[in-house]
Amino acid sequence: MKQANRIANLPPYFFAKLNGRIAELKQEGLDIIRLDIGSPDLPPPDFVLQALNRSAADPDHHSYAGYYGIPALRQAIADYYGRRFGVKLDPEAEVISLIGSKEGIAHVPTAFVNAGDAVLVPDPGYPTYRMGVVLVEGKTYPMPLLPENDYLPDLEALPRSVLRRAAVLWLNYPNNPTGAVAPLAFFERAVDFARQHGLLICHDAPYADVAYDGYEPPSMLQVDGAREVVLEFNSLSKSHNMAGWRIGMAVGSAQAVKALALVKTNLDSGIFRPIQDAAIAALTGDQSWVAGRNAIYQERRDIVLAGLKRAGLRARRPKASLYLWPQVPAGLASADFAERLLEETGVSVTPGTAFGQHGEGHVRISVGQATERIREAMDRLVNFMAKGGYSSA
Ligand SMILES: Cc1ncc(COP(=O)(O)O)c(C=O)c1O
Repeated sequence: MKQANRIANLPPYFFAKLNGRIAELKQEGLDIIRLDIGSPDLPPPDFVLQALNRSAADPDHHSYAGYYGIPALRQAIADYYGRRFGVKLDPEAEVISLIGSKEGIAHVPTAFVNAGDAVLVPDPGYPTYRMGVVLVEGKTYPMPLLPENDYLPDLEALPRSVLRRAAVLWLNYPNNPTGAVAPLAFFERAVDFARQHGLLICHDAPYADVAYDGYEPPSMLQVDGAREVVLEFNSLSKSHNMAGWRIGMAVGSAQAVKALALVKTNLDSGIFRPIQDAAIAALTGDQSWVAGRNAIYQERRDIVLAGLKRAGLRARRPKASLYLWPQVPAGLASADFAERLLEETGVSVTPGTAFGQHGEGHVRISVGQATERIREAMDRLVNFMAKGGYSSA
């Protein structure tokens, strides 16, 4: 069978590969604790499930449900942005629903990038920013996220020669995998920068509602003038515990929404109506449970921090996101550390290099796992470190 040349440059998706190894280890009887994957372990609240069931019981709700998201969903998204961020959106022109934000992210290059154009991506960063670029034969240019810059990219350091051919700048705060957050002042600088260089900023914000210690992550659309140059991606996966439901959104620049819609209308046929109705319920219903859910994550974050300390591994205290980003012991590659930890203890963490070369030296730990299992995983990690006799980084 003939295959397209472009997939030769597409690496296997890290988690798809890891899932295969984990299935084998389970078969061998190892008790696996998955702290590698950023999927909430808890379900959405009951009123969301009820909305799904009610809608599914309607015989008219099983046909194609339209391309852009039903008007009530786009209105619910606009209302959410108004309530949560004080951002006023036109639901017709500035909002489109996505089959999970990953779908929209992967289609960005098809809509905005020509062969040979550059796409600026955070490194470490969510892999999908890069993969869609490979498929359209664009070039990704990694922007290192370094601890000394609080994991914000140094925009001024980007070479002029790259900026001249750059089409899209990806940002993601609260950040996966580092757990870093961005102040509004950084978003202001980024919007200015995008205007100066004729870039579209794609800001990926699925963790905007997963935050701790009273912190409230901003939307980039809060910046004056952002709606001209920013397309913000968001999702109910993490905010409302609906990762498997596949529902997200892109909001902001009307021109960008239109371009993405043109790609999508040609490639997909929208989202199952009952899922859209459930998302409306999730966005417009009582939000007080979100604080309770975040309190559970916060407790887990603190358990992980305490465990890492006992294990002799250094990590920052994230104010948001599902992730901790500890340093691995000095001299050990993060992939080797993650592999040995998995094979010897059954605790699965993600090597930093799954997110780019600047992820080396770190692993990512997710708090989307039952609290007791996280405790258990930390005990295993502490033993593993004691047995290995590693010194901390
Ligand atoms: C930064 C980031 N963006 C996007 C996604 C994709 O989320 P969704 O479930 O909405 O496709 C994830 C999922 O882990 C993520 O971490």
